Amino acid sequence: MKVAFAKTHDAAVGATAVAVRTGRLLTPAGAALDAVLGGAVTRAMEVGRFEGKRDSTLTLLAPAGLDKARIVLVGVGDAKPGDALAAEAFGGTAVAQMLSSGERRLTLLADLSEDEALFAAHAALGARLRAWRFDKYLTREKKDEKPALDRIQVTCTHPVSAKTTYQSLEKVAEGVLFTRALVAEPANVIHPESFAERVAALSALGVEVEVLGEKQMKKLGMGALLGVGQGSARESKLVVMRWQGATDPEAAPLALIGKGVTFDSGGISIKPAQGMEDMKWDMAGAAAVAGAMMALAGRKARANVVGVVGLVENMPSGTAQRPGDVVTSMSGQTIEVINTDAEGRLVLADALHYTKERFKPSAMIDLATLTGAIIVTLGNEYGGLFTGDDALADKITAAGKAVGEPVWRLPLGEAYDKMLKSDIADMKNVGGREAGSITAAQFLKRFVGDTPWAHLDIAGMVWSKKDAPVTPKGATAFGVRLLDRLVADGFEAS
Ligand code: BES
Ligand code: MN
Ligand code: ZN
Repeated sequence: MKVAFAKTHDAAVGATAVAVRTGRLLTPAGAALDAVLGGAVTRAMEVGRFEGKRDSTLTLLAPAGLDKARIVLVGVGDAKPGDALAAEAFGGTAVAQMLSSGERRLTLLADLSEDEALFAAHAALGARLRAWRFDKYLTREKKDEKPALDRIQVTCTHPVSAKTTYQSLEKVAEGVLFTRALVAEPANVIHPESFAERVAALSALGVEVEVLGEKQMKKLGMGALLGVGQGSARESKLVVMRWQGATDPEAAPLALIGKGVTFDSGGISIKPAQGMEDMKWDMAGAAAVAGAMMALAGRKARANVVGVVGLVENMPSGTAQRPGDVVTSMSGQTIEVINTDAEGRLVLADALHYTKERFKPSAMIDLATLTGAIIVTLGNEYGGLFTGDDALADKITAAGKAVGEPVWRLPLGEAYDKMLKSDIADMKNVGGREAGSITAAQFLKRFVGDTPWAHLDIAGMVWSKKDAPVTPKGATAFGVRLLDRLVADGFEAS
């Protein structure tokens, strides 16, 4: 998809998207187009009861005066100047109207709001994110059934400045699309080794990538992570990604840690058949970390950031871990595995401890599709945020809000921690039915020591059953943009 910024446009070619604010308010370029068409846009809005409500659309086909053109009106509601999310929704919603149209070119008239360059750049980002499609296995789709859109032009009064802003947003988009593709792949294609191979591509961007196999992890004493993978025919891996963007190479890095269970059958505590196919995306935390690293390196973020992902496949077999087994984690703490389906925390326990010991990070943030309980609590609207650090909580919450990846903080506390008491080991891996997401977070907390730490339980956010303005249904890459923004606002030297 080619994206270009310009001052003027030719409405006679391809499709033109016009942003309309509540009350049928047109931008100057929209009004000019309406004038060229003898008021056809205004008349269509009246006839079509189109008010400019956010995300509503109305299409005018082949209006007299233009050759075979298509005008798409997209409501942006009460978009305020500098409303980046409204701009993204505009670009994304316009693109969605194109996908089944056969149209190859789309022009976005982005002369809305006072901060036009920002609006234009984010409209382009929204377009790019919405145009993504995971269709590599659709071998019988006819060419004229596939979306044909391949060029997007964004017009505004300051195209040079818009382009500059877009250049770093485009790197973030690439990270998002990298993550989506990893998450969307089935588990026979993405397993620990192939995940690690895909991540190796980040070295072209200047990310140092290291892959640890089972032998090395055994030497390090990672009994918790290895226990989860021991029933699988696939070798478990731990991938370390390092981006050194700060002026001081010795500056303590921010660490991002991801749960990468490439398939979660539940193991011997096997899951019901219904919906088990969803567990191919139990590696979405790890994929978000990898995509964030790609975004940060792509836009050359001035920060030291390390990404660590624990990659395992949780399978039942003759070699699988049994309920009741006791494993020793790298930290030395022992864990009674009551339920082999509570495996993500076992993987993260060793990944967190390893990261803390090796990198002495300034803070650690883990992302994981950790519990079904978080979906019961927050549905598909917010990720769950757990941390004892108020300042970090505020930064993460603000970053999520700014990019449309919202998180909601839930409590931690001594009383929850007690629920992990085991008779035979230092802890058990489940806390019982109640407060399942919190006891899972308490479990992780036992492996972070004094390092400032936050945990994001994103089980409800990484896969969407319906289209959204900038996210087609399926893999969302939730977390990539949040992490990128968090680094930009809180960890980069300005
Ligand atoms: N990967 C699942 C969590 C999950 C469930 C994510 C549904 C997305 C949708 C996790 O490994 C798991 O199985 N958790 C158990 C924990 C329980 C055994 C304490 C759960 O949530 O049921
Ligand atoms: Mn599980
Ligand atoms: Zn899982």
